[in-house]
This record gives sequence, structure tokens and C-alpha cells, in this order.
Amino acid sequence: MVARIIPVDPFDLVIFGGTGDLARRKILPGLYRRLADGQMPPEARLIGAARSGGGDSEFRESVRKALEEFMPADALDQKVLEQFLEMISYVQIDAKGDKGWAKLRSKMREDVVNVFYFSVAPSLFEPIAERLKQHGVADDEARIVVEKPFGQDLETARALNASLALHFDETQIYRIDHYLGKETVQNLMAVRFGNMLFEPLWNSQYIDHIQITVAETVGVSGRGEYYDRIGAMRDMVQNHILQLLCLIAMEPPSRYSPDAVRDEKLKVIRALDPVEPDDIVRGQYGEGPGGPSYLDDVGDPRSRTESFIAMRLEVSNWRWAGTPFYLRTGKRLKARTSEIAIVFKDAPHSIFDVPRGRHSNVLSIRLQPNEGMQLGVTIKEPGPGGMRLIDVPLDMSFAEALGERASEIPDAYERLIMDVVRGNQTLFMRGDEVEAAWAWTDPVIAGWEARGHIPSPYDQGSSGPDDALMLLHRDGRRWREIRS
Ligand code: BG6
Repeated sequence: MVARIIPVDPFDLVIFGGTGDLARRKILPGLYRRLADGQMPPEARLIGAARSGGGDSEFRESVRKALEEFMPADALDQKVLEQFLEMISYVQIDAKGDKGWAKLRSKMREDVVNVFYFSVAPSLFEPIAERLKQHGVADDEARIVVEKPFGQDLETARALNASLALHFDETQIYRIDHYLGKETVQNLMAVRFGNMLFEPLWNSQYIDHIQITVAETVGVSGRGEYYDRIGAMRDMVQNHILQLLCLIAMEPPSRYSPDAVRDEKLKVIRALDPVEPDDIVRGQYGEGPGGPSYLDDVGDPRSRTESFIAMRLEVSNWRWAGTPFYLRTGKRLKARTSEIAIVFKDAPHSIFDVPRGRHSNVLSIRLQPNEGMQLGVTIKEPGPGGMRLIDVPLDMSFAEALGERASEIPDAYERLIMDVVRGNQTLFMRGDEVEAAWAWTDPVIAGWEARGHIPSPYDQGSSGPDDALMLLHRDGRRWREIRS
């Protein structure tokens, strides 16, 4: 059953970029749900801060519209909505100038938790951090939440870390990776470290390989300019997918505490081998039923940025030596699905006279949609006809297991914001982790840039370029099907 909801302490949350897309789609609807669920105390206050003019009532109206647009109508209760809007105010602010800071300061209460959410372009992180301190808006207890992209490479990430460190202590900085807030991701830790069943088998002796797939059906239209500078490697692999890999590959932390968990994740990133050029497949979607081609979406016929990437990599340590991790992610693929599949080795000897490789146990951890886990086990096909083996899933769909209460599972953003208020950094990236992730990513990107690599085209609605299939075929393995 879903645990009892424990309200957090009262807080003031300032959302820089309060009128932006992320605030409207995720942050504000998420906070509404936390209020409706009784987790956000009615004494909390939300302050939108942005460049545009307008006062409290205009901002409240825009929040009302955002909730109506991005939440199902039956999830909105008029009474709660009015209460939510009452908690909201607005400050027009100049992130690079002096305007608005005194007013913001006058709004902050001293006896509650102060959180500043930087839902703005990275170029504004430093000016905002500096002004928060300069104008006495944030004190040594305040927390700042920083969105991705956290730098574009090691150098920019280091510079960003250094500039934030001028104003805030590491314990005050919450670098958000919303994948860490997904229900199943935390369940991955619960399954690994809360049960005796899996951990003894969780190594190269018993696991054949691991697949991580984050497939999307959307393209990049609307954010083509940004995406084309970034590509799938920086947009998804360097952060979300590496974080998933870390949680699978890390050693058991001594306790579930921020630094114990993050120390172990860091060791995994540092143990990643460089990736060989032959172990990387990059692709770009062509024109198709979903819309224009990647090149048209970004408006550059010569772009070499990838909208798909697949790779094989290894973690060089005692636990994982020789076990490949296959990662893939892409836009405009056949289904929206995110899955981690732990594929176990065959039993050492088959007494049933079936060819090897026919039946292997797979633990599939689905992040979305239909969050849940499934363990494929081999059993005898029921009925007469001798010993015929079939694979059946032991299914733990959260929706089924939890019934109606599954709809109460908080979205990643709202869970993470509540963690910030509680002062729990476990699911946030530490500065050294981000830098280590870039230190591994940079040479991979530099390698294909130096080779002038051109991404292979792939059809919209497919599983990516054919070369991606070869990445596993040549190892005698197969990707799992992408399906929702
Ligand atoms: C974001 C990426 O971080 O994650 C997007 O910038 C991507 O390109 C998104 O679409 C995917 O998130 P989710 O939660 O929908 O899987």
C-alpha cells in the first residue's frame, strides 16, 4: 500500500522562470497535487519570479490556466484550486539587474524553509545565485534547485559548480535529475537492497547483460534549436541514463543517506570504460507519419547531431567485469517506454534438452508507462504432452498491486520538490558526480566529432537504425522489443 502521507514543514518556494514551460507543465501541477494530497501545508507560499510584467492576479490566472491545461479535469477540485491560488504571488525580477530583488526579499519569511527553484536558462544560474546573496534574499539555510542541462561539457560544468559554490554550500545545492524521482527508480534500490533474493545474483557471474532503453515517440520540433546543440548523448545519456546505470551497478551503500548513496554512484561513473567507436550507433529520424525529419525539425540540412544513440559499455570493476551494458535512447521511435532489463545467464546445464539461450530469466523494470516490475521465469507448460518449457512473467504492476491508490503515486518533480523541502539530497546529483559524468561523456563525443561521424537515418516509428540491432547481434544477443 502507498505509505501514509507525512506533511512537510511550511516553506516559501520561489520559482525563477515561474511563467515558463517547465513551471506550467510540471512544477505547478505537481505542487497542486501535493496540496490536494495533504502533503504541502496550507501555510506554504509559492512565489513566481520572472522577467515579464504583471502582478499577483495575472500570475494566479496564468497558473489556473496552466493547471487546467496540464491536469486532467477530474483531478482539479475547485476548492483546493482556490486555496492553491491563494498561496501564490508574483515578483517581476531582472535576473541580471537589480529590479525586483528588494521586493522578493520582503516576501521571504525567516522562520520557514526557503527554496529557490532555478527553472531558467543555465546562463542565468550564476547571476541569480549572486543576487540572492547580494540582496540578502537567501541565507545559509536556503536551498537552491538547479535544472539540467548542468553544463555542456566538463569545463562548463566545472565553471558552473565553481560559481554556485561562491554563494552556496554543496549541502544547499539540489541538482535535479527528474529520472531519479520516478517511482520505479527508487523501487530499484528497494528491490536490490531490501530483499535477499536479488543481491547475491547481482554480478557478472549470474547476469549476462543489462539493457537500458528510454524510447520516445516525440520529435524535437519546438525545441530544435536547443536540441541540435545538445543531441541525445548530452540530453539523455550523460544524466538520466547514467543515473539509472549507477543505481543498477553501484555497491550497496552502508545506509540510505545522501552521501553514502552518491559516493557509490560516483565510483560507478569513475569505473566506466571509454567507449570504442564500434560500440556506438548514432541516428537521425527521417520524415514520417509523426512529422518532419530531424533535419527539418532543427532547420539545418547539414546537422550531424544525433536524435538516437545506442552504445555498449562496460563497468571495469570486480562486480561487473565482462558484463556489457547496452544503452539506447531516441526520439520518434515506435513507442514511449523506459525499461531496464537485467538479463540473467542460462542455467549452467539444461536437464531438459533445450538449446541454450532459449530460456533466460529477465528482470524487467518499467519506468513508464505502467510502472512496475516483471520477472520472467521458466515453467512447465501446463497440461499433458511431456516436459515443455515456457517463459511466464511474474508481474508486479504497481497499478494492479496498489489498485486505485496507484494514481496517488506522485510525479517525479513533485516528489523531488518535497525532498528539497525536507532537506534530503539523496536523489539529487552532487557536483563531483556531474563532473565525473561529463569527464566520461566528453571523450566519447570528441571521438565521433574528430571522426566526422554522420548519424545513420532511421524511420519514424521504428526501433532506431539497423546498426543498433547489430550492436547486440554481433554479441549473440537481441534488444528487447520497444513497446508500451
Ligand atoms: C528531458 C529531456 O530531460 O527528459 C527531453 O531534455 C526528454 O528531451 C525528457 O523528452 C524525457 O522525460 P520523461 O520523463 O518524459 O521520460
